Amino acid sequence: MAAIPTALYPVPAQAKEPETPPERVPAASEKLLAAKNVTLEYRTRERIVRATHDVSFDVYDGDRFVLLGPSGCGKSTLLKAVAGFIEPVAGSIELDGEVVRGPGADRIVVFQEFDQLPPWKTVLQNVAFPLRVARKMGRAEARERALHYLDKVGLARFADAYPHTLSGGMKQRVAIARALAMQPRVLLMDEPFAALDALTRRRMQEELLRLWDEAKLTLLFVTHSIEEALIVGNRILLLTPHPGRVRAELNSHQYTQDSTGRYEFQQSVARIHRLLFEEEIAR
Ligand SMILES: Nc1ncnc2c1ncn2[C@@H]1O[C@H](COP(=O)(O)OP(=O)(O)OP(=O)(O)O)[C@@H](O)[C@H]1O
Ligand SMILES: [Mg+2]
Repeated sequence: MAAIPTALYPVPAQAKEPETPPERVPAASEKLLAAKNVTLEYRTRERIVRATHDVSFDVYDGDRFVLLGPSGCGKSTLLKAVAGFIEPVAGSIELDGEVVRGPGADRIVVFQEFDQLPPWKTVLQNVAFPLRVARKMGRAEARERALHYLDKVGLARFADAYPHTLSGGMKQRVAIARALAMQPRVLLMDEPFAALDALTRRRMQEELLRLWDEAKLTLLFVTHSIEEALIVGNRILLLTPHPGRVRAELNSHQYTQDSTGRYEFQQSVARIHRLLFEEEIAR
């Protein structure tokens, strides 16, 4: 088996990915998602806004792949394209070798907003409903699976509560349980913890890593926090804005929450900051 590098290593933008990312066990790594030279645009009445230009990346089975970059670099747009809500004007997105042509239950999104749960449904109904509709499950089976995943996020006791009675963190847990219950091929998360206080955010990051480990998830996670990217991700794609382009791809599997005070972690934060901002200004 190839040696596992532990240092952050930027690769040139759009450099061809190695077939197996170096931090993963080669035999266990299967390419799940491939974004190939993806250009995304919004057409408004006045003009065309190019959100990303020629972005390529590969996500392997079991990855915690992070899209990191400043506001406006097209992170959410890329996630929406992977979810199938937006079609690329150039390039393609493939899941398991099939071009993504629209939304599907194999890709579920968790958003930042706390109001992503229909307020007229209880917590249990919120989690069970998509199982009944998209997975065609019977009532009892959907209920059982919903309760299983609510238990996983520590909310089984709140199954009969309505969303407005929950804190922001609890609502996000319900959204995560709802997504996990669908057992998607890849879980898409768009700044899911950005609106939480620092302590809750930390706890949720920890919990997500535990769930990733337990449920053998593949994550595509969007954030503009460098620290969060290093903690949550095993691989990070750095994007620069207007339009979003790949600046570098970094390996960050070696970091956990315990790393944050360490010199090596702080060095990585500074390095990413330089890659994203200072070198961009100099160019
Ligand atoms: N509905 C829309 N219509 C027109 N332009 C849009 C629309 N949504 C996003 N954009 C533009 O596309 C670009 C990328 O936006 P996007 O929301 O993907 O960025 P982001 O990286 O997610 O930013 P943030 O960190 O602020 O969430 C921006 O220039 C934005 O103004
Ligand atoms: Mg966004």
